[in-house]
Amino acid sequence: MRTLAEQHAGNRRSRHPAEHPVLETRDLGIRFGGHLAVDRVSCAFARGTLTAIVGPNGAGKTTYFNLISGQLAPTSGRVALFGEDISGLSAPQRARRGIGRAFQLTQLFPRLTVRENVRLAVQSRAGIGLELWSMWNRHVELAEKAEHCLHRVSLADKADRVASTLPHGDQRKLEVAILLALEPEVFMFDEPTAGMSVDEVPVILELIRQIKAQGDKTVLLVEHKMDVVRSLADRIIVLHQGRLVADGDPATVIASPIVQEAYLGIASASPPEHAMTEGAAHG
Ligand SMILES: Nc1ncnc2c1ncn2[C@@H]1O[C@H](COP(=O)(O)OP(=O)(O)OP(=O)(O)O)[C@@H](O)[C@H]1O
Ligand SMILES: [Mg+2]
Repeated sequence: MRTLAEQHAGNRRSRHPAEHPVLETRDLGIRFGGHLAVDRVSCAFARGTLTAIVGPNGAGKTTYFNLISGQLAPTSGRVALFGEDISGLSAPQRARRGIGRAFQLTQLFPRLTVRENVRLAVQSRAGIGLELWSMWNRHVELAEKAEHCLHRVSLADKADRVASTLPHGDQRKLEVAILLALEPEVFMFDEPTAGMSVDEVPVILELIRQIKAQGDKTVLLVEHKMDVVRSLADRIIVLHQGRLVADGDPATVIASPIVQEAYLGIASASPPEHAMTEGAAHG
C-alpha cells in the first residue's frame, strides 16, 4: 500500500506530461539598480539529473535560485515547472508545486525542537490539518517519516534539542531534513556544506548522492568545491556576471576555454574568495 505522501507525489507527477523538462527558465533575469545580477538565463533541467551551478562570488547563482523559488520577482523572463508557467506564483505556492529550496532556520520554528520542526514539515507535505493529527495510525506513519528524515541527515541523536541551540552545521542539516520531509520534485542546494565541519560534509554529500540515485528527482546544486561537483554532477552550468557562459558535461565544461579564461581572468584580477580549483575549500 502506498503511503499518503507517495500518493501525493504520484498525483503530482501524473498531472504533468513527461515531454516537458521538470524545470525551465526562459530569459530569466533581474536588475538591481543598474546591475544585472542574473542576465536572461535560459536553461532546462530534466528529471533524474543533477546539475551543478558554478561561478565566482557574485556571479548570480543564489539570485538565480531566488528567482526560481520565488523569493525574488524577475525583471525579465519566466520560470516553468513541468511546462507550466509558475512565474506568477509566490514562494510558498511554488514550494507546494514541488520546488524544494532549503529554508533558513529563521524561516522555521527556532523555539521548537529539531523533531517538531521536521514533523511539521512532514505534516505540511501530507496536507493534513491538526484535526487529523489525532488519528493514531496517521500519527505513527508521519512520526516515522520524520524520524527517517532525521536519521538520513544524522540528526536523530539531537532530535530533542531546541532548533535555535544547534551549532551551525547541524542547523544546515536540519534545513536538509525539512527539505527531505517536504518531498519536492526539484531539490535546490545552495552550498549545502558551507559552515560544516569536515566530518559532517560526507553525510550531506552522501544524501545528495542518494537523492540523485532515486532517479526521479531533479537536483540543482550550487557548489564551489570542484571535486564535489565532479563527483556528483551530470552536468555543469557556469554563471559569470549573471550570464550563462557554459553548459555541458563536467569534463567538457571544466576544460572549456571560456571557463578556463573566465577563471584565469578572475584569478589574475582579484582572487575570488572561493577559488575555482580542485578541492578548493569554502566557508
Ligand atoms: N537583494 C539584492 N539587492 C541588490 N543586489 C543584490 C541583491 N542580491 C544579490 N545582489 C547582487 O547580485 C549579484 C549576484 O549575487 P549572488 O548572491 O547571486 O551571487 P553568488 O553567485 O551566489 O555569489 P556567492 O558565490 O558569493 O554566493 C552580486 O553583485 C550581489 O551583490
Ligand atoms: Mg551565493
